[in-house]
Amino acid sequence: MSDTVSTSSPRLAQFKLVLLGESAVGKSSIVHRFVKDSFDDLRESTIGAAFLTQTIALDNNVTVKFEIWDTAGQERYKSLAPMYYRNANCALVVYDITQPTSLDRAKSWIKELQRQASPDIVIALAGNKLDLESERSISTEEAQIYANEEKLLFFEVSAKTGENVKDTFKAIAEKLPIEEKVSQSQRRRQRNIDLSRPSTNEQGCSC
Ligand code: GTP
Ligand code: MG
Repeated sequence: MSDTVSTSSPRLAQFKLVLLGESAVGKSSIVHRFVKDSFDDLRESTIGAAFLTQTIALDNNVTVKFEIWDTAGQERYKSLAPMYYRNANCALVVYDITQPTSLDRAKSWIKELQRQASPDIVIALAGNKLDLESERSISTEEAQIYANEEKLLFFEVSAKTGENVKDTFKAIAEKLPIEEKVSQSQRRRQRNIDLSRPSTNEQGCSC
């Protein structure tokens, strides 16, 4: 371990992340693994959406704070999704490696994001339930080729065992425009300090 003390001040960059994917692919389970390091075999289907936050430390004294919108995959909530992906900096689109229809659904979410979300959104594709290898029906190669074509980050993960979950969020964090965000918030902080200071060139009232 290095005993060098870093002299640069810690910096925090905040980003909005949205999870999308068919119902029961394990979106909420992935988020719970990432945020609480826990797993529930009997997780209930999400109603509307859930909001959670988690931070992740990167090199160079930077911490990324994810504001996570975990959307509901059931069809009846589909029309709510734009509310959550609008202004999102990044999206994690999830499918279940044992369910071929879930990859088709993931692809249609990705198409929608490419058309309607912010043009610089970072998109990651995650094949969940890697622990169910014996029931796999979507090969790694098939999904990897698609992800390469669409220039997406791609991981296979298991919310149940935790395999690759943190790495997925870390890879997303590393692709985000951190320097831009940090300098924006530094400028905002500086502006607030300036506004709270009494003005030095106030002339006073002569009447
Ligand atoms: P909606 O909220 O309806 O959109 O579903 P969701 O995508 O949030 O799925 P959820 O996390 O609720 O998981 C659905 C079911 O799959 C639950 O019974 C989980 O326990 C199970 N599950 C989730 N992840 C995994 C995994 O990695 N491995 C296994 N074996 N089961 C998982
Ligand atoms: Mg859910």
